[in-house]
Amino acid sequence: MQQAVPLEKHDLEAAFRSLAEVSHQLDASYRDLESRVARLNEELAASRSARLDELAEKERLLERLASLMAMLPGGVLLIDERQQVRDANPEAVALFGEPLLGEDWPAVQARIREREPERHLSLHSRHLAQQGETLVLVTDTTELHDLQAQVGREQRLSALGEMAARLAHQIRTPLSSTTLYLAQLRRPDLAVAQRERICDRLAERLVHMEGLIESMLGFVRGAPPRTELICLQDVLGDFQAHVQARLQAAGATLSVTPVDRTLALRGDRDALAGALANLVVNAIEAGGAAVHVDVWAGALNRERMLLRVRDNGPGVAQELRERIFDPFFTTRSTGTGLGLAVVARTVNELGGEIRLGDSPQGGAEFILEFPVAEGEG
Ligand SMILES: Nc1ncnc2c1ncn2[C@@H]1O[C@H](COP(=O)(O)OP(=O)(O)OP(=O)(O)O)[C@@H](O)[C@H]1O
Ligand SMILES: [Mg+2]
Repeated sequence: MQQAVPLEKHDLEAAFRSLAEVSHQLDASYRDLESRVARLNEELAASRSARLDELAEKERLLERLASLMAMLPGGVLLIDERQQVRDANPEAVALFGEPLLGEDWPAVQARIREREPERHLSLHSRHLAQQGETLVLVTDTTELHDLQAQVGREQRLSALGEMAARLAHQIRTPLSSTTLYLAQLRRPDLAVAQRERICDRLAERLVHMEGLIESMLGFVRGAPPRTELICLQDVLGDFQAHVQARLQAAGATLSVTPVDRTLALRGDRDALAGALANLVVNAIEAGGAAVHVDVWAGALNRERMLLRVRDNGPGVAQELRERIFDPFFTTRSTGTGLGLAVVARTVNELGGEIRLGDSPQGGAEFILEFPVAEGEG
């Protein structure tokens, strides 16, 4: 058995010192723990408030989404994997009517088609793969359809208006010729042979007018434009017959240089003759009694041909050159300003171009350029 050794004073002091040290250490650890707890608490509070903020933000987003859905001009539907309507915004309810929620989606669509066959709905859908649902956006395009139909009607009407103006203009020259021939027929001193010749011309003009009306009606019926092979020399013959009475009545003269009969183009023979007649009538109207019109035609090369209508009238003033082909541009009190617009349209339909040239003798000069008919010339 060991005997207890009595503690010396310095031993006690050492024991107290180490005790104090331990308690100091404990104290420091406690304070450290305390500050860590405080820090953790702070972090916890911060993360709780962040989550609360996040939640509030989500709620705000949801609210915004809900008001957006309510305000959308189109209908929005959510269709579940069993093809039933799970959700719908007010516009969708207004479009499809009730009951809607829980209804079979194909049946809902059939229902609207049956009830309002004249209604046009446009549907866009997107499959949401994760949820197995489909989001459908529906827009009512009935008004758009009606508007499109109205625009179509108006376009047809304006085409009809343009055509009516064109027809009226094309008919004016042969019509004025018939009036002039009729006046001649009234003359009591007319020999039988003369009377017969005038009657023939009168009949020709009437047939020509009938042809013009027929081709316009063909256009309305949607008949394809005429693309017959036209011998240029024939057109020159036709057009001289159109303007003969007008030239005579005005005391004006016309010279036409004959062209090679092989020179041909494709298109509407009557329309081209009418266009040339329009140019001559313009020359008579601008130049008066003493006016002389000269028509020359010829091939430029194997592909292009040229037609030149030149007069010795006052010509077109420099400042008007740009505008004379515009519809309704006229310098005459009795003019409609449609003549040259109609001529330009006809020339374009024949694949050609028209421009105002520079006549060396003054007067007006119109140059018409056309493609030579393929395989000809
Ligand atoms: N040969 C010409 N000489 C001088 N000016 C011309 C000649 N041809 C046309 N013009 C000018 O171009 C304008 C437009 O001609 P356009 O044939 O389009 O209409 P308009 O002859 O005035 O009217 P409408 O043809 O309806 O009788 C004429 O008003 C005239 O100023
Ligand atoms: Mg004219």
